[in-house]
Amino acid sequence: MDNFEFYNPVKIVFGKGTIAQLSSLVPANRKLLLTYGGGSIKQNGVYDQVKQALAGRTVFEFGGIEANPRYETLMKATQLAREKQVDMLLAVGGGSVLDGTKFIALAAGYQKGDPWDILAQHAAPEHALPLGCVMTLPATGSEANMFSVVSRESTHEKLAFAHPLAFPQFSIIDPETTYTLPERQAANGVVDAFAHVMEQYMTFPAHAPLQDRQAEALLATLIEAGPQILQQPRNYNLRATVCWCAAQALNGVIACGVPQDWTTHMIGHEITALYGLDHAQTLAVIMPAVWRHQLPGKAEKLAQYARRIWTISEGEDLASRAIDKTEAFFRSLGLKTRLSEYGIGADRFEEIAGRFERRGLRLGEHQAIGKKEVVEILNLCLQSPPK
Ligand code: NZQ
Ligand code: ZN
Repeated sequence: MDNFEFYNPVKIVFGKGTIAQLSSLVPANRKLLLTYGGGSIKQNGVYDQVKQALAGRTVFEFGGIEANPRYETLMKATQLAREKQVDMLLAVGGGSVLDGTKFIALAAGYQKGDPWDILAQHAAPEHALPLGCVMTLPATGSEANMFSVVSRESTHEKLAFAHPLAFPQFSIIDPETTYTLPERQAANGVVDAFAHVMEQYMTFPAHAPLQDRQAEALLATLIEAGPQILQQPRNYNLRATVCWCAAQALNGVIACGVPQDWTTHMIGHEITALYGLDHAQTLAVIMPAVWRHQLPGKAEKLAQYARRIWTISEGEDLASRAIDKTEAFFRSLGLKTRLSEYGIGADRFEEIAGRFERRGLRLGEHQAIGKKEVVEILNLCLQSPPK
């Protein structure tokens, strides 16, 4: 097991009716900027619950943060936060609203240059606005972590940052808010959370049996509950289970002391930036291809996963069969697993791979995935899909 530090100060307030607790979670004298997305919170009653809990407070609003939040939009919100001199942000929505608001929190106090540098140059702001969240889409884990992913429309870039100032002070997770999720978003959320676990698990054995079993608990639970939420969208306990899985999948716990491989996410962000696929749609395509490409190095862990999660113990090709099972799981949730199914061909593969090279990035748990390997992985995403 590798050395590690673990720090996660996010207060999670979980359960039915918890949005009302905003009245005590937000100090009375705060001047708030409430941020939200394209309007789902106005249709499903979440907005009304938030406003009711904050009645009598000074609350400015910024709506219209889009899925895969755009720097250009977030800078408008940053401007508003500065103009109104707000002293706290409240993000209400899915991962995009939360991520976008984390960026606003850091950008609002960043005076040293263009806030894009926080993403592109890893510039480290010294101050940020405090942030609270009401999470309505179990997927990213943004409610429980210090990560944020922002897209820049003008250059078709999608970049991430991690900064301790981006930890929410609190996150309210009321599973009832997720009843209104369209099936596609609910399925996306399950695949995203599943992929987060995998990026911290599917490497090589690292003498970390507890972290392995914690990861496997999340995988098994998502495989069990994921398809069921599509059948029973108003089943509270199923929704609660998926919400808690998503928060746990990327709150730092299962990353402790183990190697990680974020290749799937890194390539996926480029696909979203260039073609506009949903985040999870990219993951369902790329993850099986990364594993097939990296089979020798990941074989031992894939076999462990095959035995423990899919209870396959007979035969020799446990690793390949585990990959097939995973792909079938993604497809059972309605996601496609080939780029060709989205009408995407090989024409921009060199460009995508070249972006990593230009940023000096090598991917994989051994940094063994360079430009050539990225193109090879992308080519595997063009094979004909399984029957
Ligand atoms: O914009 P509104 O109208 O709110 O609608 C949203 C949006 O259209 C809708 N939605 C959210 N909650 C709903 C709802 N509709 C009905 N009922 C509800 N309760 O769902 C749509 C998608 O929302 P979005 O926030 O974009 O989805 P998600 O939570 O999957 O977030 C994706 C973003 O998070 C980033 C992704 O790259 C992507 O930009 N990620 C963030 C991570 C992090 N911070 O740790 C890690 C992830 O790997 C990921 O990269
Ligand atoms: Zn993700």
